[in-house]
Amino acid sequence: MVYIIFGVSGSGKTSIGKKVAERLALPFYDADDFHSKENIYKLKNGISLTDEDRWPWLEKLALEIKKWSQANGAVLACSALKISYRELLASKSVVLPIFILLDGTYVAIKERISQRTGHFFDPALLQSQFDTLELSKDILRVHINSSVEEVVNKVLMKIQTTQSQLGLIGLGVMGSSLAQNMLSKGFSVSVYNRQVAEVEVDVAKLFVESLADQTKVKGFDQLVPFIQSLQKPRSIMLMVNAGKPVDLVIKALLPHLDLGDCIIDGGNSHYQKSIARSQFLKEHQIEFIGAGISGGQEGALKGPSIMPGGSEKAYNVSGKFLEAISAKDRNEKPCCTFVGPEGSGHFIKMVHNGIEYGEMQLIAEIYYLLRFYITLTPPEISEVFSKWASNGKSSFLLDISAKILQKKEGEGYLIDKILDKAGQKGTGGWSTVAALDLGMPVSTISESVMARNLSGMKGERVEAAAAYQLKNSTFQGDRDAFIQDLEEAYHLGSIINHSIGFDLICKASEEYQWQLNLSEIARIWTNGCIIKSELMQEISELFKREEQKTILRFPDIVTRVISTKGSLQKTVSEALSLGCPVPVLSAGLNYLLTYTSALASANMIQAQRDFFGAHTYQRNDQPLEKFFHTDWEE
Ligand code: 6PG
Repeated sequence: MVYIIFGVSGSGKTSIGKKVAERLALPFYDADDFHSKENIYKLKNGISLTDEDRWPWLEKLALEIKKWSQANGAVLACSALKISYRELLASKSVVLPIFILLDGTYVAIKERISQRTGHFFDPALLQSQFDTLELSKDILRVHINSSVEEVVNKVLMKIQTTQSQLGLIGLGVMGSSLAQNMLSKGFSVSVYNRQVAEVEVDVAKLFVESLADQTKVKGFDQLVPFIQSLQKPRSIMLMVNAGKPVDLVIKALLPHLDLGDCIIDGGNSHYQKSIARSQFLKEHQIEFIGAGISGGQEGALKGPSIMPGGSEKAYNVSGKFLEAISAKDRNEKPCCTFVGPEGSGHFIKMVHNGIEYGEMQLIAEIYYLLRFYITLTPPEISEVFSKWASNGKSSFLLDISAKILQKKEGEGYLIDKILDKAGQKGTGGWSTVAALDLGMPVSTISESVMARNLSGMKGERVEAAAAYQLKNSTFQGDRDAFIQDLEEAYHLGSIINHSIGFDLICKASEEYQWQLNLSEIARIWTNGCIIKSELMQEISELFKREEQKTILRFPDIVTRVISTKGSLQKTVSEALSLGCPVPVLSAGLNYLLTYTSALASANMIQAQRDFFGAHTYQRNDQPLEKFFHTDWEE
C-alpha cells in the first residue's frame, strides 16, 4: 500500500510521514525531492508553481507510486492539494494509494511555519495553499492539533480502518464466490490472484470490476501489497488447489507475515498435510486453520458448511469470519464450529465427502435400476425421487437428482447423453485409505469409490459387454410395491452409510485424541453442505440425546432398521437376479448383516491363517488372552 500524507506546507507532512513509515516498516519518500531544479528554485524564491510546473513532477511521482505499490509499499509526503493532482498521482497504480490529509487551521499552521528554520517554503505562500486545497470524499483527515506522537497514532488508526478485515487468495469459482459472500456480510476484503500469461490475466482486477459495489474490496496481483492491505492479526483464506499450490503460497506468504497472523486453507487438503502445515507454521508463530468447506459454488456464495480445525488461538483470530459467512442451521446457528485440533477439520471434510460418494452412488444405482430394469422414464424417476423427498427423505443430493432427471435436451433427456464415466478428485479414496489405516470397515464408502473406478474403465466395459452378451431381465412383478421397498431400501442404505462415516470419525477422534463432538459435526452438516438432509437433522439431534456413538445402535434407528431390513434384502436380491449391479445397496446390506451377527465367518479365516502360517487363534471357550496353534495335518 502507498500512503500519501498530504496537506499545506507546514502541516507536518515530512515529520509525521517519517514516523508513520517507521511504524509501518515502510520506506519514506518526500515528494519535494522529486522536483526539478527549476521548481525548487521557484519555491525557494517564493514564486508560486504553476500547474504546468507541477504536471511533469506529478507524472513522475505517479510512476514511482506504481513501482512502490508493486513492491512493499511506501509512505510519501506530498502537498497534493487539488483533486486533479491526487487523481494524477493515483492514475498509474492498480491498487489506489491512500491519501491522508493533515488538517489544521491557517493560524495554527502559520504559527508552526514561523517557528521553523531551514525550510525553502516562504510562509507568504500559505494563504494561496489554503485557497488551493480541495477536499474530496476519498481522503482520510487527521487533525494536527495534538503532539506529533498522537498525530502519528491517529494516522495509523485511520490507516487501520482502510485495511481489509479479510484476505482471500485464489479467485477460482469457489474463491470468488466466497469473496462475494464475505463482502455481502459487510466485511472489507482484499483479494489476490496470481498472474499467469494468457491463462490468469488481471483476474483480481476483473473480479473487482465485476462487482456493483467496489467500496469494500481491493484486488491485487502482487502478494506483498495484498498482505499489507490487511488488518492485523491477518486472516488470509487460501482457495487454491489442494496439494503443492497450498505449500507454494504458504512459502511465499511466510516472510511477510507477522506473529499471530492466521492462514486458513479452505481447499480439500489431505488432513495429514494440514497437520504438517500447522506444525511448520507453529514454528514461525503463525496460526493455521485447515478448514473443510462444503456446498459447491452456491454454498460458497450464499453460505457453506465450514469445518475448521486448528489451534483455539487460530480460531480466535479467524473463527468469527468463518461463522459469519457460513450457512445457518434451523435455529440460526452458524454451520461452522471449532471442530478440533490440527487436521481434524480436513479429516471430517474428507469423511463428509466419503459419505457424499456413498449417497451419490446409492441414488445412481437406484436410478439405474428404475431406468433400465423397471423401465421408468427420467421424469417418472424424478417423480419417484420427489415423492420420497416429500416423505421425509429429502436431501440436497436427492433433490438435485430429481431436477437432473427433468432436464430435457431437444426431444430427449440430458441424462441419457452424459457419458457413464465418473470423475473423482480423491477424497472418497482418502477416506477409504484412512479407514484402512484405522482398521475401520467403511464398506459403503469404499464400494462407492470402487464403483467410480469401475465406471472409469469405460472402454474395457464396452468390450466385455460385447464379449459376454449378457441378457438382463426386465422386472415383471408389482412395480408399485417394488418401488415402495426401494424407498425403504434407499433410506436404510443411507442410514448405514451415515453410520459408517460417523464411526470412522469417532475412531479417528479416539485415535488422535481430538475429542470431536459428533452432534456438532452433524449439526454443521444440516445446512450449506452437499450431504445436508432430513436424516442429518435427525442424526444431529439423536447424537445429542443418546449415549451411544454408533448411529445404528440408537434405539429409534434400531426400530427403523428392523422394519426396513426386509425391503433392503428384497431390493438387493431382486436387483441382482435381474442382472442389475447395486454395489452400495448390497455393501450396505452385507455390512448390516455382519454388524448385527454375533457369530461371523471369521473363525474360518483364523483357522486358515493358522493352518498356512501358524498365525494362532483365540478360542471362544478359553480366556481371550490365550492364543492357540494347531498342527492341522497331524
Ligand atoms: C463439497 C464437495 C466438493 C467437491 C468434491 C467433488 O462438499 O462441496 O464435496 O468438495 O464437489 O470435491 O469431489 P469429486 O470430484 O471427487 O467427486
